[in-house]
Amino acid sequence: MSHTAEPIPSTAAAEILGMLQSGDLFRYTADTDAPVTRLEKEFANFMGVPFACAVNSCSSAIFLSLKALGLGSGERILVPAFTFAAVPSAVVHAGCKPILVNTGPNLRVDLDDFRKKLTLGIHAVLLSHMRGHTSDIDAIMELCEARHIPVIEDAAHSLGTTWSGRKIGTIGRAGCFSFQSYKLVNAGEGGMLITRDPDLVARAIIMSGAYEHTWKKHALVNDRFVRWQNRLPLYGLRMNNLSAAVVLSQMTDIPRRARKGRENHDYLAARLNASPWFGVPEPLPNEVRAPDSIQFSLRRFDTDEHAAEFQRLAREKGVQVEIFGLSEDNARAFWNWGFTDSQDDLSQTREILERTCDVRLPVRLEKAGLDFIADTLVEAAEAATAPAAWSGWSAT
Ligand SMILES: Cc1ncc(COP(=O)(O)O)c(C=O)c1O
Repeated sequence: MSHTAEPIPSTAAAEILGMLQSGDLFRYTADTDAPVTRLEKEFANFMGVPFACAVNSCSSAIFLSLKALGLGSGERILVPAFTFAAVPSAVVHAGCKPILVNTGPNLRVDLDDFRKKLTLGIHAVLLSHMRGHTSDIDAIMELCEARHIPVIEDAAHSLGTTWSGRKIGTIGRAGCFSFQSYKLVNAGEGGMLITRDPDLVARAIIMSGAYEHTWKKHALVNDRFVRWQNRLPLYGLRMNNLSAAVVLSQMTDIPRRARKGRENHDYLAARLNASPWFGVPEPLPNEVRAPDSIQFSLRRFDTDEHAAEFQRLAREKGVQVEIFGLSEDNARAFWNWGFTDSQDDLSQTREILERTCDVRLPVRLEKAGLDFIADTLVEAAEAATAPAAWSGWSAT
């Protein structure tokens, strides 16, 4: 039930049918107005930035941002310890080294740890707004600008989120977005890199796979491309026209989805916070969120067994709950990232993740669905923490 996605708007169908008939799926076949080119233009306009480069995933956008900044020889990249495994993976893929910074109880970057680690030879910050929670980006930008350290925003779950009225993804040197199915805009897979930096985007476009003179089909034709032609590797990360048509059909719906996602989240948050079992982190004062999921901490759960039992009971009733730090092989638990070097001062984040739950909230959920989730979670918490008193409660 809680996995139901929005249908793809029917406007995509006609365009896709035309493409199936013409076979014109490659972004660089048409001289002008290919769907990928139109999407780049529309996305950049929507975000209020001059440049966008469409790719096949947010992971690719992050990888290209690092490469376009000229990184990739073992440079140290500061990354929140609470993020998705794809994020440190993109850092490793780019030939850099992820350095993990602790997360606080509100699921934002712990600024004390950030200040400390920023002094440890960091070359760039990759700021994951994990699950759409914005860390204090004013403080982070100030600290980074003082040290001339570029910030890349991983805004995979932050499309539609604003900070002091500014769109998340437009504040750092580059912003990276995902169109994978669990995000606000769903193309199955897909990603976007945005920036105000013409050199960065020219380098990213070429490395995404704009070979020979295909870069002339980007609005941005200038000496930057000429400068980088034949001097950069081509990584083959382009978006195709089918994906672009699917994303284009959803662009005008972003504000509604953001608003509805926030309303759904806040309604459920109020219900969960009214119980003694759960605590949903408050948004920061400058932040207007666009959540596609809800996170909450477990209170009064003394043992892992109680927490696991809560998870099991909720699932039996039809609500899929992940506990980041307890679900087996969870890709958002940094200690499962066997491809990164172990880092020994992250116990704060680990303890938080061991009691932090995650439930997806597709935009199309209505009040009845939200009430069902709230009732199920509260009943499961009561049953899990007082099994004797609740022996009559069974999954049906
Ligand atoms: C925080 C975060 N960053 C990056 C990604 C990677 O996105 P993609 O699957 O488009 O590569 C994800 C995926 O869910 C994510 O949650």
